Amino acid sequence: MSKILVTGGAGYIGSHTCVELLEAGYEIVIVDNFSNSKPEALKRIKQITGKDFDFYQVDILDREALGKVFDEHGDICAVIHFAGLKAVGESVAKPVEYYHNNITGTLMLIEEMRAHGVKKIVFSSSATVYGVDNTVPYVETMPTNTATNPYGYTKVMIEQILKDVYVSDNEWSISLLRYFNPIGAHSSGLIGEDPNGIPNNLFPYIQQVAVGRREHLNVFGDDYDTPDGTGVRDYIHVVDLAKGHLCAVKYVLENKGVEAVNLGTGNGSSVLDILHAFEKACGKELPYKITDRRAGDIAWCYADASKAKKLFGWQAQYNVDDMCRDGWKFIQQNPNGL
Ligand code: NAD
Ligand code: UFG
Repeated sequence: MSKILVTGGAGYIGSHTCVELLEAGYEIVIVDNFSNSKPEALKRIKQITGKDFDFYQVDILDREALGKVFDEHGDICAVIHFAGLKAVGESVAKPVEYYHNNITGTLMLIEEMRAHGVKKIVFSSSATVYGVDNTVPYVETMPTNTATNPYGYTKVMIEQILKDVYVSDNEWSISLLRYFNPIGAHSSGLIGEDPNGIPNNLFPYIQQVAVGRREHLNVFGDDYDTPDGTGVRDYIHVVDLAKGHLCAVKYVLENKGVEAVNLGTGNGSSVLDILHAFEKACGKELPYKITDRRAGDIAWCYADASKAKKLFGWQAQYNVDDMCRDGWKFIQQNPNGL
């Protein structure tokens, strides 16, 4: 069976994808520097799947170390590239660190892939590439040059780099997966999102309110032009997202070319929809306060999910109640994270 190198495989989306890859019979090799994850995640992947894999604590900026991983596994046939920094606010404060880690890191990876004749890659892009000028639902053919922060620009630029790599060498096969808002956890409750410090994102914040680690949720604005005034997003179960990667890997193994593909459900939910769905899952009321809007936020963000269905035969299976049920299970079992 095919061997896949997974960068950032100890992280939130990476760990769920590794579980799906192992369960589908792929061999995997994981590279992670634990800058935003913990070794425990790797143990949990093994616990869930009962399968083993090689792991290297390597920073993808360390080209020599990365090269050794490819040397030791001459049968790697494709890469899923999750490794990157992802906090929007932090990227505004530390643009150089973000551009260096995400873009230089990707360039090092591409160079080592090329040196070892591996020309198939699935890249973690984001709905953030649709920026501020497009209107929902977002379609892959829309222009993507109006990101609102350095993190978003790293995704715009890496997509461009990978498109140019394909133009220079048509042997490449590249999938640019534009994720919408992944939430929830594996149904075992063993892996899930485990952010350091105060969560930036809605769902882990709600999870921490539910277990009493935070007093209340701050809802960032209720005066948007949306049904209840709070921001609308396309929340997707992280296991659905992980399964989307299986389809993308199969696609790059069998085809050449470069394709941008949205991974979303096509449905929008507001901040209060998610809060109330979580209340239902955990069986208690969760306190919240309406505060000012957060800088850089938009009112609406949801996918046109038809390309993924057409190209990959993939479509999300889980709804918001499933996402909250599994997210509640994870935080109950791991109230202080992994
Ligand atoms: P995460 O932080 O949980 O996982 C990223 C992993 O990469 C971490 O384990 C981290 O330690 C590792 N890493 C970072 N820099 C590295 C480096 N230089 N060398 C080696 N390892 C490194 O984040 P996630 O939510 O799992 O996101 C995975 C990818 O998906 C990221 O590229 C992110 O930008 C992208 N993405 C995430 C979301 C989201 O909402 N979670 C949305 C769109 C896109
Ligand atoms: N929100 C709150 N309170 C919070 C956190 C968030 O009200 O404490 C609101 C936001 O204003 C927004 C919604 O909840 O309306 C979702 O916010 P998140 O921070 O969870 O997610 P974003 O849509 O802002 O951003 C996420 C990822 C980005 C990615 C983007 C598009 O964090 O990396 O989706 O894919 F680029």
